Amino acid sequence: MKETNGRWRLAAALLAVVLPVSGRTLRAQEKVHFQSAEKVFRLDGGETTYAFGVNEEGELQTVYWGGRLSPQDRLQAPRSGREVASFDRPVNTTQEEYAGWGAGLYVEPALKVSFENGNRDLELRYVSHVITADGIKVTLKDVSEEVYVELHYGVDGATGILGRSATILNRTKAPIMVEQAAAATWNLPRSDDYTLNYLTGRWGAEWQLQQQQIRPGATVLESRRGSTGHQNNPWFAVQRGSSSDEESGEVWFGALAWSGSWRITVEQDQVRQLRVTGGFNSFDFGYKLAPGEKLETPVFYAGHTGHGIGEASRLMHRFQLRTILPQAPTPRPRPVLYNSWEATEFAVDEAGQEALAEKAAKIGVERFVMDDGWFGARKTDHAGLGDWEVNPTKFPHGLKPLIDKVHSLGMDFGLWVEPEMVNPDSDLYRKHPDWVLNFPGRPRSEARNQLVLNLARPDVRAYVFGFLDKLLTENQIAFLKWDYNRNWSEPGWPAVAPDEQKKVYIEYVRNLYGILRELREKHPKVEIESCSGGGGRVDLGILALTDEVWVSDNTDPFDRLSIQDGFTHAYTPGVMMAWVTDSPNWVNQRTTSLSYRFLSSMQGGLGVGANLNKWNDSDFATAKELIAAYKQIRETVQHGNLYRLISPRNGSEYSATESVSLDQHEAIVFAFLHSSQMVYPYPRLFLRGLDGHAKYRVAAISGAVTKETPEIASGDYWMQYGVDVDMRGDFQAAAFRLERVQ
Ligand code: GLA
Repeated sequence: MKETNGRWRLAAALLAVVLPVSGRTLRAQEKVHFQSAEKVFRLDGGETTYAFGVNEEGELQTVYWGGRLSPQDRLQAPRSGREVASFDRPVNTTQEEYAGWGAGLYVEPALKVSFENGNRDLELRYVSHVITADGIKVTLKDVSEEVYVELHYGVDGATGILGRSATILNRTKAPIMVEQAAAATWNLPRSDDYTLNYLTGRWGAEWQLQQQQIRPGATVLESRRGSTGHQNNPWFAVQRGSSSDEESGEVWFGALAWSGSWRITVEQDQVRQLRVTGGFNSFDFGYKLAPGEKLETPVFYAGHTGHGIGEASRLMHRFQLRTILPQAPTPRPRPVLYNSWEATEFAVDEAGQEALAEKAAKIGVERFVMDDGWFGARKTDHAGLGDWEVNPTKFPHGLKPLIDKVHSLGMDFGLWVEPEMVNPDSDLYRKHPDWVLNFPGRPRSEARNQLVLNLARPDVRAYVFGFLDKLLTENQIAFLKWDYNRNWSEPGWPAVAPDEQKKVYIEYVRNLYGILRELREKHPKVEIESCSGGGGRVDLGILALTDEVWVSDNTDPFDRLSIQDGFTHAYTPGVMMAWVTDSPNWVNQRTTSLSYRFLSSMQGGLGVGANLNKWNDSDFATAKELIAAYKQIRETVQHGNLYRLISPRNGSEYSATESVSLDQHEAIVFAFLHSSQMVYPYPRLFLRGLDGHAKYRVAAISGAVTKETPEIASGDYWMQYGVDVDMRGDFQAAAFRLERVQ
């Protein structure tokens, strides 16, 4: 991989061929255009047109973003905003693509810098542009200082998703301090009828979808934690109009490709224009640029659809699978994995893991993953992190016997690591106490008894790459679960000058990406999962370098329904790992049947994390059957088009999802019942995304449709008449498959 954040892949995507997205065939001839008379740039992709131009002040201003326009449509040159009153200079109402903080700007700036001579004013104007096969580069410059900003634009031909980023260049003769830097500002058409969708959470409760009417003022989504965070995810979707819903209405959506502290500001200004500005978090931020140096922002991706938030999700899924993921455009379906964590926690050893592996192989597991506890003096979470040598008591002959055993059982082998952390009780920390984030003479706040290694340091980067490379070179490891179990405190970097120290927010993440990239280059077959105490580090930046993510430590199969519902708003089920674990589940002490747990997890990448030593014959039989069924449907579940038929949110008694294969030859439906009441039947399910004229045969995977349901009917029938599911009781689940027969 040559460039960061998947930018190079966006170029590849521009050459994309026609792909049916959600059953509609999209236009292939994506284009980049320049109307020189009006100085308007236009990007077309999928069903979307995006246009911006140079206004009479020389500012770069948004012209249009919405449904695809005809190639014949000529767009008007933009006109800068007007002065509403003397209190608001026109810069506040001009929908600038990338506004410098200066000239009396009060809305969120994209860029704020200060100069050594005390000047803090920056006004960016168009200088030049280059149109390439893969997009547009526009250069802006301050009205007097030699500070330049290159804005990069690309569009994905299949989905119309745009990628924008900025490079800030200091060509003055003195250092400048960048105090705030966004990747882009996205301007939406003027409206006072917008609803913002975003994702919030915490450990064990990630991916909760929030919806709120957008009012004048700003809503800030952010992480100040040094990494993406469980609390907010760098994704947004804005719906217009009160009738906009899952499958209808206009939606503008986007996600930031950055795994460090980030911020997205959604701001309705005083003339009801909506701007979404996102990039590095400006909190505690300062990036000093010496003369000649530059700063590159992450990419902020965004798209538009006229077909509801469901279609917005499907476009994002398609884009991630075809363009972002390391194995794009054809990622391998996720293997069924077994993970030892909930079964054995830190008490791993050769005999115990081999016994679990034997049982896992019997039910059809394809990848056996040993979790925490195999290294250093790791008996609890108090010690050992940082010492990545195999524990000689637990594994007297190293990992080889276990790995050989796993291979002999027909599975590949995966291993848990938490490379960026150290327990103070470790040889590494005793040797290198200066390697952690810290302010000299200040307390070092521990969380889970651990501190954060400062990956921005070259020696720490070399150490982390070195031990991982050695592990992968010396052992036949197919998969790493890469964990990250706390957020930052005292983010000092004493080894560099005080005015360079805040660079840690960027250099840390760049080195993380660099290590992942180099490991993948050197060990191209190794797959990696991004985990951060569950779903604390999921974003389009890390997804360009990892194959799957651990969505939440919460493995309660009922809680998972709303967690997965929220997750799929932003990210593809093709990376969404979900394990079947023990019942009652440790999270809520809830008891559910094994088939309920399987069906909940089968909506993403399936894993098993139960203690198989406690299973009886019937459990093994159920698991074997459902894993075999899953292997038949996983391509569609992971890579197909997802329709959220009934949402589990807001205390719903019901929830259902449907996945349709891209060629519409099959659909998989999962339906869940919390608890039946008052003899009400399960609501009829109206399927979506099928070929209306084709005939489909219905077949049960688990549970059943009512006996009145025809075995074969048209796609139109299943979508219009619908399907009745026979389900009563508490925590019930059913799954069925429709297969095209002609
Ligand atoms: C984190 C992960 C878990 C498990 C533990 C091990 O909490 O999310 O899945 O790996 O660490 O310590």
